Amino acid sequence: MARTTVQVCSQCGFQSAQWHGQCPGCEAWNTLVEESVRPARADARAGGKSRRAARAANGSPPALRSVPLREVGAAAVKRMSTGIGELDRVLGGGLVPGSLVLLGGSPGIGKSTLTNMVLGHLQQVGHRTLYVSGEESAEQVRLRAERLAPGALGVPILAETDLDAVLDTIAAEAPEACVIDSVQTLGASELSGAPGSVGQVREVAARIMQLAKAQGVAVILVGHVTKDGALAGPRVLEHLVDCVLQFEGERERPYRELRALKNRFGSTNEAGLFEMRQGGLVEVLDASARFVAEATRAPGSVVLAAMEGSRPLLVEVQALVAPSELEQPRRVVSGLDRNRLALVLAILGRHGGVRTGGADVFVNVVGGVRVDEPGCDLAVALAVASASRGVPLKGTPRGCFGELGLTGELRWVGHPERRLQEAAKHGLQGVIAPADSGASACEVATLRQALAAALPSGSGNGRARPNAERGGSPVALVGEPGPVAAPRVLRTAPDAGAQLVPVGEESGDREPL
Ligand code: TYD
Ligand code: MG
Repeated sequence: MARTTVQVCSQCGFQSAQWHGQCPGCEAWNTLVEESVRPARADARAGGKSRRAARAANGSPPALRSVPLREVGAAAVKRMSTGIGELDRVLGGGLVPGSLVLLGGSPGIGKSTLTNMVLGHLQQVGHRTLYVSGEESAEQVRLRAERLAPGALGVPILAETDLDAVLDTIAAEAPEACVIDSVQTLGASELSGAPGSVGQVREVAARIMQLAKAQGVAVILVGHVTKDGALAGPRVLEHLVDCVLQFEGERERPYRELRALKNRFGSTNEAGLFEMRQGGLVEVLDASARFVAEATRAPGSVVLAAMEGSRPLLVEVQALVAPSELEQPRRVVSGLDRNRLALVLAILGRHGGVRTGGADVFVNVVGGVRVDEPGCDLAVALAVASASRGVPLKGTPRGCFGELGLTGELRWVGHPERRLQEAAKHGLQGVIAPADSGASACEVATLRQALAAALPSGSGNGRARPNAERGGSPVALVGEPGPVAAPRVLRTAPDAGAQLVPVGEESGDREPL
């Protein structure tokens, strides 16, 4: 059926036949997006007329009947296992027929590899599949498939960018699972915008969704992300699709993390860990063992007992604290929220006596893993304190977890028993944790107590250490960290001898750093 196009304001919904830089409806700039409209079908129009006639006849809209939820038939969702356990878990148990999954990630992260592997497995176990590649030629996709498991070569491929041709092929071949790689490369010929523009991406996704739901095809739409990490252009797609998966990691490192940002058929807390190898992506099932074995145990290194969704994961958090030459010292994080680091540094300074005001602070979650939970606060605090004082944690390897409150208290976080079990399984003793975490934990109530438990008493006594010192002059820490006595900083001016400067809770505003 012939389609026409209109320009629609994404803010106020104003429609116009022509494009305007400024919306005549709401006066916002650059909000008009081209959309195609299908003329209403004759029968639908007829139905509309008869409803209107009925409404007109009795003067009110006909009432619909609502039903109690218990009477709604809940058909068990059938799922197709992708053959990749980590992906199945993130999806909530496998691919759901008729669902639309958006898989985002930066170029080179492994989206095509993962989707090739999924279709290879499904094809091998007897499902009909289709791989639509708008980005690479069929030969390029074959070259990749040769590196993967043998089933990948059995997947039918269509290298095409025209949306209508792709939809016709899906309708004719009726695959049970289909991958569109990528949604930004397909284009609807009736829209004038280039493939990848907001209007095009929205149209492509909407029409694929119509077909997917009608035919019960499980579709994975591959999408690129912009430099700042958002799914390029089509944030609108996130509302349309059933599930949004984000593939993260650093290209230079082998680890890749798959997270669900939205999932209508499962939890959004789950994350899967993969490693890119010669033969494709391999699930990392023993991640905790690897990260604990690789932990350096040097000053600034702490093992965090984190939760990745429903699964505990032990990761190493590393910190480096170095005198800064800059007016505004650097705060560099990798694998953590930058604002969280700022908060932890402020709490450390105010309630832990570890001031970093004049120092560059670098914090990294080793292995390219991202930790997105409040339980990481204590690990960041201990890593920074240990790096700042130049001493490793007492009794390493030992783990920790807990959220820091603004008043310096350590707050309870979810699943302490699973975190402690995982830590015990990998040989970590005396895990520092908030109160009520479990009998095997070294429970503490405040940051100050955690510092006393984690760092050797007298660490830094009298010995000059590089520290948070503006201007780079040496700083020595004296006094006991912890609740007993406030740590003290001995500032040694090169020519004027040492000057004792108390720091910590009691010192208040006298802290010079
Ligand atoms: P690819 O899946 O093409 O990434 P995307 O579709 O997200 O852009 O794969 C990216 C990288 O993975 C590429 O640099 C090559 C590497 N790779 C391997 O190391 N091993 C393999 O078996 C495959 C298929 C790819
Ligand atoms: Mg690709």
